[in-house]
Amino acid sequence: MEKLPSAVALIASRKPDRPVLGVRPHATARAARWFLNRFPGDVAYAYKANSSVFLIGALYGAGIRHFDVASLPELEDAATIPGAELHFMHPVKSRSSIRRAYELGVRSFSLDSEDELKKIVEETTGSKGPARDLKLFVRIAVRPKNSRVPLEKKFGISGAAAARLLVKTRQVAAELGATFHVGSQTLTPDAYVAALDEVNQLIVKAGVVVDRLDVGGGFPSCYADSKPAPLSAFMDAIDAGIDKMAVREDVRLMCEPGRALVAEAESLIVRVDARRGNDLYINDGAYGTLFDAAHLGFVFPARLVSRPEIPGETLVPFEMWGPTCDSIDQMKGPFMLPGTVREGDYIEIGNVGAYGRAIAGSFNGYGIYDEVILEDEPMLTMYDTDTSGTREARG
Ligand SMILES: Cc1ncc(COP(=O)(O)O)c(C=O)c1O
Repeated sequence: MEKLPSAVALIASRKPDRPVLGVRPHATARAARWFLNRFPGDVAYAYKANSSVFLIGALYGAGIRHFDVASLPELEDAATIPGAELHFMHPVKSRSSIRRAYELGVRSFSLDSEDELKKIVEETTGSKGPARDLKLFVRIAVRPKNSRVPLEKKFGISGAAAARLLVKTRQVAAELGATFHVGSQTLTPDAYVAALDEVNQLIVKAGVVVDRLDVGGGFPSCYADSKPAPLSAFMDAIDAGIDKMAVREDVRLMCEPGRALVAEAESLIVRVDARRGNDLYINDGAYGTLFDAAHLGFVFPARLVSRPEIPGETLVPFEMWGPTCDSIDQMKGPFMLPGTVREGDYIEIGNVGAYGRAIAGSFNGYGIYDEVILEDEPMLTMYDTDTSGTREARG
């Protein structure tokens, strides 16, 4: 794929008709190295966040070998990665996908009900009887704290039922694990402290030995309206939380970051097709890469890349509208841009790498992107400092 120094260089050289995904593999590699250095266990990339071959390649190159997959198509795709260990962490799976996963060598599964446990046991039983090599993670529903996308409503088990499920799972699993998800884009580490405490209480109640502990995803990235605590504070909180738990000294830890590994590794470069007041009509939107901006109110950083910045020029708030005929195709922002933006300009919208291209569909005939590799820094980064949290990226 073509490499360019920046989105500015791209637009200086051509005027793309389609929206462009600017991929920064070096940013995802840096994030992966950070997690591999700081997390005291397996770092399993949540494949659903972005399965671009360039980003998967960068994660692999940085040393990521564990992948959290949510569906059979993801699993079959990830199974082609040499030496990859896959974890099928969707708590509700079809029987055929459990069977196929087991055939493909997957041994890690999550579950949050006795029915799912029964399905897993039945579908992995062979001619020699029940499988003896299952690593089964009971998904606990923990209360979200400070997360942008709560995830405890649909999946997870709690209270006495969770303790019972831990006991039943222990009886059939070669290795018993507990897992949870604090919610995506969790801004403060106390969410993990509280979750680990909740999980610990259930483990004590159940009186089971837990071999594996998976703290899930939820690690934050930075956006124009979201400046989370530094990632090192999350790691410190997790270390301290685990120290207090009644788990084996050598419990095997795992985390499943999606957003934190890829969010800052992609930008979207869009064209302004109309300006009406401070509303910009652009060529991608809610049904494309900007789903989270439209439906969850994320404010991605934005900058004008088709004309040089005039030093000191005042930035004003803009709303954006996507290209489809639907009036929910609206990104309220505010996106801060020079007041002179006009039809024909191009805008770089940064930090869309997590759940951007992964969600984009083809409604109204859109959803087709050009792609380039960008060599410059992401618009915002969590990783240019270990200790002081988010900062404007250099360069
Ligand atoms: C089971 C599981 N693990 C990991 C993730 C990744 O979460 P995040 O992108 O917030 O790190 C998700 C996201 O939905 C998930 O459902």
